[in-house]
Amino acid sequence: ARAKGMRFGSCTAWAPPGADRGSFANPDYAALLEADCGILVPENEFKWQALRPDAEHFDTSRFDAMLAYAKAKGMAMRGHTLLWQKPQYYPKWLNDYDFGAQPRARAEAVLTGHIETLCRRFGDSIVSFDVVNEAVDEKTGALRDSSLSRAIGGTAPLIDLAFHTARAAAPRAQLVYNDYMSWEPENEAHRAGVLRLLEGLRKRGVPVDALGVQSHIGIKNEGTVAQVVAQQTGPWREFLDAVTAMGYALVITEMDVNDQALPTDTAIRDARVADYARAYLELMFGYPKLRDVLVWGMCDKYSWLNGFTPRADGTHQRCAPYDAQFRAKPLHAAIAACF
Ligand code: XIL
Repeated sequence: ARAKGMRFGSCTAWAPPGADRGSFANPDYAALLEADCGILVPENEFKWQALRPDAEHFDTSRFDAMLAYAKAKGMAMRGHTLLWQKPQYYPKWLNDYDFGAQPRARAEAVLTGHIETLCRRFGDSIVSFDVVNEAVDEKTGALRDSSLSRAIGGTAPLIDLAFHTARAAAPRAQLVYNDYMSWEPENEAHRAGVLRLLEGLRKRGVPVDALGVQSHIGIKNEGTVAQVVAQQTGPWREFLDAVTAMGYALVITEMDVNDQALPTDTAIRDARVADYARAYLELMFGYPKLRDVLVWGMCDKYSWLNGFTPRADGTHQRCAPYDAQFRAKPLHAAIAACF
């Protein structure tokens, strides 16, 4: 990756030293990060729920520890995320917030206060911010509402304000709109909605540098990988072509390969996951504006997918580059081969 001017990376979590977690403080996990990664992203530690106990205070201590680790190891850092536009991931106090007699001004102050504080403090340490995350409803393609967007009078002005504020307070950082639209056929409405949002942002002159393609992809068990992939390639290329034609760069921000639909046999799963990932990444690497490729966790054992989409047979998801014994899997080789 380095030789190509690219970076490979992963999310990591804060945890007490020695905890059995996907944390930089877990020596087994840190060894994987240090073997492969040039860039890290906090799995949860930079989200409002983690940073903002209430409207007045910031607690960056866990993120600070992660940043200190990354700096000590010569790794870059991403900021995820300044606004996760899904109310279930707002802190409760923000969902319940009383914006008072001048709701718009108050909501703008809450949002800009958050972004300015973090961007001023970390704007030279964080190379790339997911300024806004998941603002597009996957079923309808419409923008999602929240307490902040209702008070401000719309989700588009909320998003615009977030990016303008981030640019002013962290002028050297890459600013990203991040979402999970993907290449699977059922993602069509989601892709269309993201495209509409990106077109609107360009028209309004909002400072957005890149689309974050989360890349939570998943292999279903019908047909060969080649058949599945062939069906999905056309619409996905059209989408990426339209995005990059507008001048947006691409970042793979959260890749993993969900194997919930695959049978138990480990060798079959690992081979299919690796083939599917290779086909996906070969397509993605065809876009020269792709520079950073991050996975959402290095190790099957600690992946969020074990909780989010657990397998019926009770085994770990085999979604990450390393298995639960910290051994590299075919997925690791497939990713490496793409660089
Ligand atoms: C997930 C984390 O991995 C979980 O630990 C947490 O409980 C919920 O969030 N898209 C995103 C990430 O943008 O922030 C999500 O991370 C995964 C999906």
